[in-house]
Amino acid sequence: MINPFYGRDIISIRDFSKLDLEYLFRMSDKIQKLSHDELKGLAPGKLLGTLFFEPSTRTRLSFEAAMLSIGGGTVSIVEARTTSIEKGENLNDTVKTVESYVDIMVLRHHMEGAARFAAQITQKPVINGGSGIEEHPTQAMLDIYTLLKLRGRITNLKIAVIGDLKYGRTVYSLLYGLANFNPQIFLVSPPDLMVRDEALIDLEGKAKLSQHENIEEIIHDVDAIYVTRIQKERLPDPLEYEKVKGSYVIDNKLLSKGREDLMVLHPLPRATEIKSEVDKTPNAKYFIQAQYGKIVRAALISLMLNEQPPN
Ligand code: CP
Repeated sequence: MINPFYGRDIISIRDFSKLDLEYLFRMSDKIQKLSHDELKGLAPGKLLGTLFFEPSTRTRLSFEAAMLSIGGGTVSIVEARTTSIEKGENLNDTVKTVESYVDIMVLRHHMEGAARFAAQITQKPVINGGSGIEEHPTQAMLDIYTLLKLRGRITNLKIAVIGDLKYGRTVYSLLYGLANFNPQIFLVSPPDLMVRDEALIDLEGKAKLSQHENIEEIIHDVDAIYVTRIQKERLPDPLEYEKVKGSYVIDNKLLSKGREDLMVLHPLPRATEIKSEVDKTPNAKYFIQAQYGKIVRAALISLMLNEQPPN
């Protein structure tokens, strides 16, 4: 199979097929078996630009750690106020400038469409590191890889996606990505934070979906729960947040109602939706999930840069 990531932009997970994702997962497996020197040989002399106009811990640092691990280097914008955007420069000019310095850009931006706009104006590949409430495709890539590694398969899984399904961008990439693998998905949210209609329309016929308010209705029946934070910063009104905060709290009592091997996933950061007592249970997989972020992102960068992946 020809490397489907070579020279591509990564804007929406919908731009990639099941075969493409499986190709990435095979590369993710492969790079974990490479020696230190072999890894360093994947991107020598290449530069990754991380342009982050919203806060991040995992996405930015895992991309940067991934690039360093495969022999490349990084340059970063970590806050708009430390750049010439503060002096009135627009996104177009920032991207057009940075493209001459780097081989790949990762862009996180509060505006939907920002990553696609950047991809349209630069010849260099752009990775969407989170665009408003729209998508976060590499998060879904690592989420699905985590399911594969920890459950042993991706197809026909039963997954509950819980929390802020309206504004959580990781939710949309996850739903679109999982739709390639015949999932049954239970969408659990307060009525005000139900998944947006655009996704329900897109997913019609591609995934078995049902909507719920009460997690206890379905927890006994699922392979994994994917818990999300209420996106306080994206709610239009602080009073709205007061209404929905604390709607779901995952604790050990709730987990006792699920299967023994129930996986608890979360893209992180968490606020109060998973109690710290859960961290000590074998069900807690969210920190392993974050570890896979570096691996999948190293595989992805390597594939984007190299026509031929290593044998
Ligand atoms: N999951 C995720 O996007 O985390 P950060 O906001 O810390 O990058």
